[in-house]
Amino acid sequence: MFHHVQHYAGDPIFAIVDAFNADLRPHKVNLSIGIYFDEQGRLPVLPSVLAAEQRILAEGGAKPYLPMEGDAAARREVQALLLGAGHPAIAANRVATIQTVGSSGGLKVGADFLRTWLPGSAVWVSDPTWDNHRSMFEGSGFEVNSYPYHDMSTGGVAFDAMLTTLRGLPACSIVLLHACCHNPTGVDLTPAQWDALLPVLRERNLLPYLDLAYQGFGEGIAEDAYAVRALADAGITFFVANSFSKSMSVYGERCGALTAVCADAAEAALVMGQLRFTVRRLYSSPGLHAAKIVSHVLGDADLRPMWELELAAMRERIAAMRRMLHQRLSALLPGRDVGYFLSQRGMFSYTGLSATQVDRLRDEHAVYLLRSGRICVAGLNTGNVERTAEAMAAVLAG
Ligand code: LMR
Repeated sequence: MFHHVQHYAGDPIFAIVDAFNADLRPHKVNLSIGIYFDEQGRLPVLPSVLAAEQRILAEGGAKPYLPMEGDAAARREVQALLLGAGHPAIAANRVATIQTVGSSGGLKVGADFLRTWLPGSAVWVSDPTWDNHRSMFEGSGFEVNSYPYHDMSTGGVAFDAMLTTLRGLPACSIVLLHACCHNPTGVDLTPAQWDALLPVLRERNLLPYLDLAYQGFGEGIAEDAYAVRALADAGITFFVANSFSKSMSVYGERCGALTAVCADAAEAALVMGQLRFTVRRLYSSPGLHAAKIVSHVLGDADLRPMWELELAAMRERIAAMRRMLHQRLSALLPGRDVGYFLSQRGMFSYTGLSATQVDRLRDEHAVYLLRSGRICVAGLNTGNVERTAEAMAAVLAG
């Protein structure tokens, strides 16, 4: 029956985690997957999330199915987090939000919805992008193309080339954009660049699809939602898939959402109905515990400020690691400009290391990163940053 099934070579990110876990060298360093580790190299349990879970347990209660769209309180909190509480688009009922199985679940529900309702559209992703974007949209039946994004020569965004490509797209093309903390490069559009992008999206009648997996890891909760709020203010119809995996350190709980900001309430109601149907066909309804974590942490007057401080502490520790790595590498490689470690934001940095250099880092130094040269800066701590810098310097020096 299944002789013809093709071998699956494995996921480029999860396969490296498996290799890291199998490595017996005690000094190994994991800079591969996008997970925040603390100064001790542990996956933190945020006190705000722990307190929420204790409350959930104390409340007891049965465990019914959630509706297809998820929990109403969690969905309201997501809208306020993305758009800012009291945003006119929320008041006008033109925002449709469903709770999803992580933001990957949101991306997939959105992809299936779009494949049904914009069947003639193709998807455009940044070059480069998160390894899973392409296969996720292809899995929903889309043709996936890329627009220029990262300029290796400057370390910034190839913004003119990006705009030129987007200006040439057919109407209703779906443009996948990273709202902040671009994965894998760490190179974001500035607010001024977002402002310059909006007229192109509007005039060409393109559908922006934002991926917001790292809200709060760049500059702050509101700052990292700049693109979401600017698009909503501009009256552009768009999708945004957001995640709490990183910002609440609840990776395995699969807390995420998909939001469609529509032209008006009638359109939002239609979109909402079809999103619910899409969920019903895929996994019926999302998880209850995930909803309760999100609604308790975001909606509680004590837990919300606690979480915001915890998120700020994670953001600041990553920034401190960027500075330390930059300082050590600058000292070890005086002729080399490694300023990009300071200008890039969020969990990831594009190091410019080649796949061969990445392999050497793994084999000779037990330092694991993606073969694209992406590192997860949040895997660094004061105990391993020095050794990591030395290993990088050794392979960069040849
Ligand atoms: C990553 O890019 O490493 C994370 O988003 C985790 C994942 O699922 O790939």
